[in-house]
Amino acid sequence: MIMKSVQIISTGLSLPSRAVTNDDLAAIEDTNDEWIVKRTGIRERRFTEGEESANSLALRAAERALKKSGIDRKKIGLVIVATLSGDYSTPSVASQLQQALGLDKDIPYFDINAACSGFPYAIETARSFLYANPERPYALVTGVEELSKLLDMTDRSTNILFGDGAGAVVIRLVEGSYASVLGAQSSLAINCMGAKSDSSYIRMDGKEVFRFAVRILPHMINTTLEKAGMTYDQIDWFVCHQANKRIIDHVVRAMKLPGEKFYCNIDRIGNTSGASIPICIAEMEEKGLLHSGEKLLLLGFGSGLTWGSCIVSYR
Ligand code: UT7
Repeated sequence: MIMKSVQIISTGLSLPSRAVTNDDLAAIEDTNDEWIVKRTGIRERRFTEGEESANSLALRAAERALKKSGIDRKKIGLVIVATLSGDYSTPSVASQLQQALGLDKDIPYFDINAACSGFPYAIETARSFLYANPERPYALVTGVEELSKLLDMTDRSTNILFGDGAGAVVIRLVEGSYASVLGAQSSLAINCMGAKSDSSYIRMDGKEVFRFAVRILPHMINTTLEKAGMTYDQIDWFVCHQANKRIIDHVVRAMKLPGEKFYCNIDRIGNTSGASIPICIAEMEEKGLLHSGEKLLLLGFGSGLTWGSCIVSYR
């Protein structure tokens, strides 16, 4: 059977200009740089300011990815945005990109909310759409979050972790082995506003989520590779959701994987939920770390609880 795999053609990055250091947070609450670095690996994160918002970050990342791709915009057949923090509950971020990017109206535009697993969910969804509509062979997939507006600045167990930003990719289908693993198990361990919520802020049982993360990551890595008929050493980059550096270190140690194949930027960017994986990929491209034909295993996990992984290649 010939499998259709996902290839990244180009990427775009957009980060808010305002950097918030651990010392900035220590100035407003009972925390300190040493605790945050030791427990999370985070040194600073970006927060929006002024006119910046989820929609404007998404637009800038998407525009950069489209420009770099050099493709005719009429060939974009689908626009998906992974987010839980768009400017509005509705309209979607994706629908607001149409006019600004000069894209056709007669294609699907929608957001996916699978929290920190959103980007692999979006890639897998885009793959199915592209397969069914070969006349428009490219999809624009963006991950964006503006979590700073959902943070309780009196809750040091969450406000030290999260940040804002966006990353985008243009993808197409190519022949090659592919696999994905998407899943969920009902839990309110991370939740945020809604008719049933008693808070308009992110609430999290950090310990429960930590335990879930270190259990689900090996499951995703092993199951995805098994489905694709691949082995660890055929993966060039493990691009893991940046939730906590300790989670990644734990999995690298427990599975005896090469740590240098795990790209990490949590020290500078913090945890940007659905945006963290595409931000990593866009940074990797900017730094010249990605080479033609390389295979990336994308690994997301988070609120839901959800998990999502898939294997993509770089052009
Ligand atoms: O992206 C979605 C997925 N999210 C995640 O994967 C998050 C997973 N969880 C985590 O990353 C960690 O659980 C946290 C970083 C959120 C918390 O780290 P922890 O090692 O689980 O700390 P803890 O909540 O058990 O707190 C340990 C101690 C407590 O003090 P006592 O009771 O031992 O005296 C806390 O009150 O650290 C205290 N503490 C802090 N101290 C300074 C909690 N937050 C802070 C803080 N600064 N910001």
